[in-house]
Amino acid sequence: MEKELVIVIDFGGQYNQLVARRVRECNVYCEIYSYKTDLAKIMEKKPRGIILTGGPSSCYEEGAATCSPELFGLGVPVLGLCYGAQLMMHVLGGKVARAAVREYGKTEVDIDTESKLFADAKPRTVCWMSHFDYIAQMAEGFRVTASTADCPVAAAECEERKLYAIQFHPEVMHTEGGSKMLFNFVRNICGCSGDWRMDSFVEESIRAIRAKVGQGRVLCALSGGVDSSVAAVLLSKAVGGQLTCVFVDHGLLRKDEGDEVEAVFGPKGNYELNFIRVNARERFYGKLAGVTEPEEKRKIIGEEFIRVFEEEAKKIGRVDFLVQGTIYPDVVESGLGGESAVIKSHHNVGGLPDYVDFREIIEPLRNLFKDEVRKVGLELGIPERLVFRQPFPGPGLGVRILGEVTAEKVKMVQDADAIFREEISRAGLDRELNQYFAALTNMRSVGVMGDERTYDYAIALRAVNTVDFMTAEAAEIPWEVLKRVMSRVINEVKGVNRLLYDISSKPPGTIEFE
Ligand code: XMP
Repeated sequence: MEKELVIVIDFGGQYNQLVARRVRECNVYCEIYSYKTDLAKIMEKKPRGIILTGGPSSCYEEGAATCSPELFGLGVPVLGLCYGAQLMMHVLGGKVARAAVREYGKTEVDIDTESKLFADAKPRTVCWMSHFDYIAQMAEGFRVTASTADCPVAAAECEERKLYAIQFHPEVMHTEGGSKMLFNFVRNICGCSGDWRMDSFVEESIRAIRAKVGQGRVLCALSGGVDSSVAAVLLSKAVGGQLTCVFVDHGLLRKDEGDEVEAVFGPKGNYELNFIRVNARERFYGKLAGVTEPEEKRKIIGEEFIRVFEEEAKKIGRVDFLVQGTIYPDVVESGLGGESAVIKSHHNVGGLPDYVDFREIIEPLRNLFKDEVRKVGLELGIPERLVFRQPFPGPGLGVRILGEVTAEKVKMVQDADAIFREEISRAGLDRELNQYFAALTNMRSVGVMGDERTYDYAIALRAVNTVDFMTAEAAEIPWEVLKRVMSRVINEVKGVNRLLYDISSKPPGTIEFE
């Protein structure tokens, strides 16, 4: 049976991946394509429905992102969101114009609950708006199904032609019942049964990997992060001892992390695979000695990583397949999928394939979002603390130590970070915060300890809430928790006499502190 698919056409808006994630949460598989993709290519995939996303332009301006009018006459249900809604009206002969009032943020909306799209919605609810243009006149055959004080057409539809337009953003959590609206579209209007499930994903992947690999030998660079761990376990379940995982401990991991990874994947661990841990701490510290510039540190760590990995791969001998933990946002962001391309090349272990002789790459998680990777991890029985691990940069603590990296500084930041994590989890905040860690500033200042004057380092704490890691806000951690961390770090971590809490947003800050 053919897999059900919904296609999200990306017009460059900021919530586009979120739309796709919400659709997948309805157990419906979807893929993101740029608006520039040929309609014929999209239709070849036989989508059950199409969603047009938001975008930054004005659809009536010359050169604005657009779509073919044919899209609306194929009999495939189409849902336009924000820019997508305006574009639908514009292309079909309605009128879109600059609004007198720009709507932004939570807004009350009156909804016609007779609409299939809004089944089970409250007649008056709250939605998330973000637009400066509005639908001044609907295209022929449409009727209004929602409105706000400033926006006469907050939603419209032409049920016969299965065309739906929503000016607000149902994908954003602030829209009450927004997920249900998307559910109504993909499950009820498009008629998808919801065949996208992680248990069947695991079964199908194992079958496909076995067929592809045959008797071949597989190599995987294991970092202990969520993606590479899940990829490794999937491979191990599929081909067992044909898999070798190389884990490079560069001495820039969090406290005890190397041993934790070894405990799970090593010879005393849970899986059938060949596990090689390379303790390369001294080698990395040696290369980093005297280097203070952040980009240079990143470059050195990345290059050294490749050298070490390459040496190990040579020792193994023949390698047929190389595993990569690429996930769907990497695919979309590197411009292969959607339109809102933000290229974060530094976020992946770049260049690795050039350094190992192999036949083919295996990317078993290529179609999954992070939350789906986690579900697969749980499905595979991977320990929860690994599955829900926070993001951790490839260059590790090298980017959380300002200035030169030394063994002493690594120890300071490891200890402070371990205390911070412990206190956050004791306060029950660990699943609430998206990322939190300690960094070591390069600032030393005067303090007093007992009767003695000190001249020691300041630790900075960072904790953020974010949806997509592209923008973030500092989390409001309770003062008592911060105070407890401060007191423990200053008492327990030698060489530290001050603790700062970083309240910067991203932008203009970054999440990491380097
Ligand atoms: P920034 O600091 O750019 O970080 O706001 C955004 C997210 O990316 C993570 N990050 C990295 N992840 N390799 C990675 O795998 C890297 O080099 C890297 N640098 C930053 C960061 O932890 C945050 O989650």
